[in-house]
Amino acid sequence: MTDVAVSSLPPVVYDPFDYSLHDDPYPTYRRLRDEAPVFHNEKFGFYALSRYEDCSAAVRDFKTFSSASGTSLEDLKAQVQLLINTDPPVHSKMRHLIAGMFTPAKVAPLEDAVRTMARELLAPHLASGRIDIIADFAAKLPMAIICRLLGFPREDEDRLRHLTDTVVHRDEGVFGMPDEGMHATLALYEYFNADIAERARGARREDIIALLMDAQADGRLTHEELIGYIYILSIAGNETTTKLIGNMCYQLHSHPDQAALLRDNPALIESAVEETMRFDGPTQMMARTTTRDVTLHGVTIPANSKVALLFTSANRDERKFDRAEDYDIRRNPRDHLGFGGGLHACLGAALARLEARVAIEEILAALGDFSVDESSLERMHSPQVRGLTREILTFTPSG
Ligand code: HEM
Repeated sequence: MTDVAVSSLPPVVYDPFDYSLHDDPYPTYRRLRDEAPVFHNEKFGFYALSRYEDCSAAVRDFKTFSSASGTSLEDLKAQVQLLINTDPPVHSKMRHLIAGMFTPAKVAPLEDAVRTMARELLAPHLASGRIDIIADFAAKLPMAIICRLLGFPREDEDRLRHLTDTVVHRDEGVFGMPDEGMHATLALYEYFNADIAERARGARREDIIALLMDAQADGRLTHEELIGYIYILSIAGNETTTKLIGNMCYQLHSHPDQAALLRDNPALIESAVEETMRFDGPTQMMARTTTRDVTLHGVTIPANSKVALLFTSANRDERKFDRAEDYDIRRNPRDHLGFGGGLHACLGAALARLEARVAIEEILAALGDFSVDESSLERMHSPQVRGLTREILTFTPSG
């Protein structure tokens, strides 16, 4: 017996490479949870889990749901070792090296820098009453902070952002990283290699890369792991945080009651960030590979299968969250899967939360009662990341 509902609609299909899914994947996710909680995509040969309980259990069971063959649906092509694509004991060794640099206490001192940068980015647009909150703000802020953490010069930010964006972009219907993505990956490796070589020649700088280089120097990290670490920090903290800020502006615009509630109760900001992560988080899904046959809801997933864990579907699972399809900034759902869970739970979550909170605080303070120009919206197309690439906010000009 399975506990799935029967629908009179054609069978539900989940194809994350189909652009038409990206505008609003949530009705599909709902049908997957109800009708096909273990969905098999025959075209690409992967499975998908969409319920909270199943995704949450899978991220905690690395022995069955391994990350070592990659965490996207595509075959692993990376030539470097990425923390995100490891299982213990390699994962434990790598994560331990710098986990202490990303605790809430360690990132808290960055708040002033984030706030200053947010104000600098908003200021030139206040007199016009319009800003593309993605291109002019949300795309710049996280990259500037991660460059600062990694010690990369400000003048390299635009180039690095372009390269990391190219790595995550996917052409419609294309399974696998296009050539531009591979070229961008190689260009990033080259940049990181040059940076390390330069550091090795000069005086020591006290930052994350210095800690990772120490680990390489005494044999705890290989050169490939070192490059991979810098690569994942550059990629993971960039696009996702940009999209969270954009998604949050959009949700506040779409839910004026919630925006008013936040304006009247600024102390709700942290809860509002968390609710946005739950309701419309940027990381839609991460993949795993089964190490053995697994039977769930009457379906057997064979060993060595790719399995998509649909985190944002899990986050709207009404079996877990009351009124799951309602955006309610008072909810403060700390157990959502927007940052994943288990061993691989997002290393940069405290930083992302800080950046998003300060960004929205500054947007509300500077722009007041803004609206989103719906005709301006352009969406990113990626099987894993959901968010806007263009989003014009309009507001009463100041000055
Ligand atoms: C892992 C989401 C921001 C660094 C993850 C995972 C998710 C996630 C879902 C789990 C991956 C998995 O289970 O396979 C997000 C979102 C962000 C964000 C939605 C912004 C809103 C950041 C930032 C950084 C970062 C700012 C770093 C500065 C990482 C790293 C991992 C990770 C290094 C891998 C951890 C591991 O494998 O142990 N992130 N992330 N992320 N994230 Fe984030």
